[in-house]
Amino acid sequence: MENDKKRIGWGLIGPGRFAQEFAQELVAMEGARPVAVASRDLAKAQAFASRFGFEKACGSYEELFADEDVDIVYIVVPHVFHAGIAKAAILAGKAVLCEKPLTPEPETTRELTRLAQEHGVFLMEAMKTGFLPAIRKAKSWIGEGRIGDLRLAQADFCFSGPTDPGDRLMNPELGGGAVLDVGIYPLHLTRLLLGEVESIAARGTLAETGVEDSAAILSRHVSGACAAMTCSFRTEEAMSASVFGTEGLIEIPLFHAAKKAILKRGGEVIETFEDSGGGMVAAEIEAVMDALGEGLTECPGHTHADSIRLAELMYEVRRQVGSLVT
Ligand SMILES: NC(=O)c1ccc[n+]([C@@H]2O[C@H](COP(=O)([O-])OP(=O)(O)OC[C@H]3O[C@@H](n4cnc5c(N)ncnc54)[C@H](OP(=O)(O)O)[C@@H]3O)[C@@H](O)[C@H]2O)c1
Repeated sequence: MENDKKRIGWGLIGPGRFAQEFAQELVAMEGARPVAVASRDLAKAQAFASRFGFEKACGSYEELFADEDVDIVYIVVPHVFHAGIAKAAILAGKAVLCEKPLTPEPETTRELTRLAQEHGVFLMEAMKTGFLPAIRKAKSWIGEGRIGDLRLAQADFCFSGPTDPGDRLMNPELGGGAVLDVGIYPLHLTRLLLGEVESIAARGTLAETGVEDSAAILSRHVSGACAAMTCSFRTEEAMSASVFGTEGLIEIPLFHAAKKAILKRGGEVIETFEDSGGGMVAAEIEAVMDALGEGLTECPGHTHADSIRLAELMYEVRRQVGSLVT
């Protein structure tokens, strides 16, 4: 079909929990063609494909890589499998959008980004937060000096999660731990809003499997501003962020999927930004398709260097917390 030629063909690997949220938004996007879903279990791929309107179901990841209608592969499996699947996709010449963290280690993140560059293939870590209009608004308020000079930020990503030692969050073999799964969000946000990190300190508590179930993190940024962050899968839910300047503050409720940013000064609300449209990942998908349309190998909104730096920060946090298994 002529129309299909203009759309970007998407293949999804790992029809599990988050894949459903992503697929729901992807299939509604004009420029996206939902081509194929791959699972190790063909019946599961078939059920997912028919539920969300993908054209084909594959019983192996290799089958999806070989599909000439697939332009980009979206990888949404536990962290430890990201690097291997992304590498195979790149070698098959497919662009890759891979869930966060791109890989759990800085070295493998460097290797993977190098491979994509050598092969001239697009690769991006799916860090949706920085693309959300509410976060972009907060960043522009900061840039315009609306809260004066930046001093502090606070960001939390805590929730009550699974206790089954086999669950991917609890299991070290599956890249478990709060830092890789949710600590990445406050680390990403504070770096995005306060600038590059100069130094970082962390303490935490370990689950019985040895992964950290909670961590408290402090960062100092090159700008001089500092951030206090928490992450946990053992507490009440807390997922908001605030940025404090000499002349005001910005509050961002549920910041990882932000729909709102509130600018306050002297205890009063000065301006509220509300994102009435879009979803959680639509802006990220749009940015990916724009980058592909321009023939880029990385997305300007979240570059390879950003992924490598995040991997370094998470590694250092886990080292200090005592959960790093080397
Ligand atoms: N961006 C976001 O907002 C967001 C939110 C949640 C999660 N995530 C990321 O998405 C990724 C997947 O998370 P999820 O919660 O969706 O995972 P999940 O539901 O536990 O698993 C997703 C898929 O991964 C494969 N898989 C699971 N366990 C496996 C194992 N032991 N060995 C081999 N393959 C396995 C399965 O694919 P098969 O179909 O082949 O069996 C499964 O369908 C993670 O990296 C996470 O960080 C991102």
